[in-house]
Amino acid sequence: MSDQLGNMRRTHHCWELNASDVDKEVVLMGWVHRRRDHGGVIFVDLRDREGITQVVFNPKVDEKIHAKAHAIRNEYVLAVRGKVDMRPADMLNPSLKTGEIEVAVTEFRLLNKANTPPFMIEDAIDASETTRLKHRHLDLRRPEMQKNLILRHQTTSAVREYLNKNGFLDLETPFLTRSTPEGARDYLVPSRVNPGQFYALPQSPQIFKQLFMISGYDRYYQIVRCFRDEDLRADRQPEFTQIDIEMSFVGEDDIMKLTEGLMVRLFKKVLGLKIKRPFSQLTYDEAVGRYGLDKPDTRFELELKDISDVVAGSNFKVFANAVKKGGIVKALNAKGCINFSRKEIDDLTDFVSVYRAKGMAWIKVKDNEWQSPITKFFSDAEKEALAERIEMEPGDLVFFVADQPKIVNEALGHLRNHLGKTQGLIDENDYHFLWVTRFPMFEYDETEKRLQALHHPFTSPLEEDYGRLEKEPLAVKSRAYDLVLNGFEIGGGSIRIHQRRLQEKVFKALNMDRKTYEGKFGFLLDALNSGAPPHGGIAIGFDRLVMLMCAQASIRDVIAFPKTQKAACLLTEAPSETSKAQLDELYLKLKPIAK
Ligand code: AMO
Ligand code: AMP
Repeated sequence: MSDQLGNMRRTHHCWELNASDVDKEVVLMGWVHRRRDHGGVIFVDLRDREGITQVVFNPKVDEKIHAKAHAIRNEYVLAVRGKVDMRPADMLNPSLKTGEIEVAVTEFRLLNKANTPPFMIEDAIDASETTRLKHRHLDLRRPEMQKNLILRHQTTSAVREYLNKNGFLDLETPFLTRSTPEGARDYLVPSRVNPGQFYALPQSPQIFKQLFMISGYDRYYQIVRCFRDEDLRADRQPEFTQIDIEMSFVGEDDIMKLTEGLMVRLFKKVLGLKIKRPFSQLTYDEAVGRYGLDKPDTRFELELKDISDVVAGSNFKVFANAVKKGGIVKALNAKGCINFSRKEIDDLTDFVSVYRAKGMAWIKVKDNEWQSPITKFFSDAEKEALAERIEMEPGDLVFFVADQPKIVNEALGHLRNHLGKTQGLIDENDYHFLWVTRFPMFEYDETEKRLQALHHPFTSPLEEDYGRLEKEPLAVKSRAYDLVLNGFEIGGGSIRIHQRRLQEKVFKALNMDRKTYEGKFGFLLDALNSGAPPHGGIAIGFDRLVMLMCAQASIRDVIAFPKTQKAACLLTEAPSETSKAQLDELYLKLKPIAK
């Protein structure tokens, strides 16, 4: 036995052989998936990337080889030479591509041994995600993970094919660069040769792709890594991948058409699914008004109803006062949920409190009466108006939240998603694409106490709102759009500002003075003054898209080497401390770290 290949060269992969190969001499290489010792005959399921073949060590074929095969364990790496045999009729395995045949081994090499893996190399294991991430090289051997990564590859390749065909140039942009504002914190990289100075890793290639348009490249794309230091969730990673696109001489409709074509192509090519075009569209105000969120899951109905006007004058102070203070009251009619217990309702109240709702009122609609702690506060006329607005029918359970609009919409919007899932309102095989358009240009950041760009500051305001930039910036709508799929924001883009004067106005609205914005973005402002064409684009969150195509609940399951909630890589144990010598070289000194 030897750990080298010697003269053995692979003739087939482990998924390829079938009845038509019987009697051929073949060489297979792969990992021992399972070994079974059947009184004298040893069966090994040999596994490679694409499949499994049963190979047989039979003392009647070769006694010496059979004896050696006793040492084989799971995950050992083997090369086997042998003859393809038909399996006996009672041993056919129709669930395996190669289930008709087996290989009678005449020569084998043990190429490497392996420690006993901490979990089985198969689907539906109960190992924790921490264990899986720590041993990611083994986790990636599992069929489910392989399927995800292969699908990811197929999608990448279909994206390139589509965009190449449509005249896009695949161009790279720097990773060591200046801050590119997308609303997150930057990852900084110290410059050794410029002591005290730092690069920022790009939050996106936004400014560079605009510069490509100004340089006349017309259509750009890149499947590119972006870096954002932000709080992580199931659909957020500190480094993630975008399909980044920019086009010249276009309006929103051109970018939507191109993106819809791309999605239709990907779903057809990779999943064999037909997606209907054109995608539906909602303005931001419509989306938030009807569903509470700017990324609504439109696979099911269940819309929120604004009842502020009905209850503004009511005797229920919680509602009336909320409206008086500039807030709103909205209702969500959980159809047919009258049998929810007190405990279930309390749990849902806890659920909405995460979104800062201070309480949640409810009404159970019985045949002739309402069962609710708040019914007594309403007049008959108010009750009638509520019943009509909320379309109350016997059997319904209606939830109410009163507060500032942001809190009401987020609380009930997420409650809506929760009920959609738990009440079986969603067809999990369905894909609903939706455009959300006309986002507000700015939002008020409560913690920073200042305006921020909702998309990014290079987004063009709607032309009819130019005049409001100075006096009422919060009323300005933008030419930004998001692509939403099944309640996930899978892409976002905009038509850009291509004139220096307008760009300066937006910087000023963001409370930047001339010195600040020229210091940060002087190069862009100069470029805008050098013949910038009208342009716009979009970036698709590739990990999220692939996650949904793979029907996974976390983007970590479609990223080969993802990071944890704390932005750590458990496999390599990054981030890690560094040596004093390296810090000295970078002119850096650490402050004491409070543990
Ligand atoms: P935006 O910031 O909306 O736009 O990002 C585009 C898309 O990228 C995905 N995404 C993420 N995916 C995983 N982890 C993250 N931390 C993360 N952050 C964002 C989302 C999002 O819709 N330069 C602009 C695009 C443009 O204007 O053309 C941009 O980056 O799916
Ligand atoms: P309280 O007056 O606090 O006893 O509340 C009476 C009812 O109103 C309870 O069912 C509360 O859950 C509900 N409630 C309290 N605050 C709100 C709110 N902000 N929005 C909706 N319902 C609320």
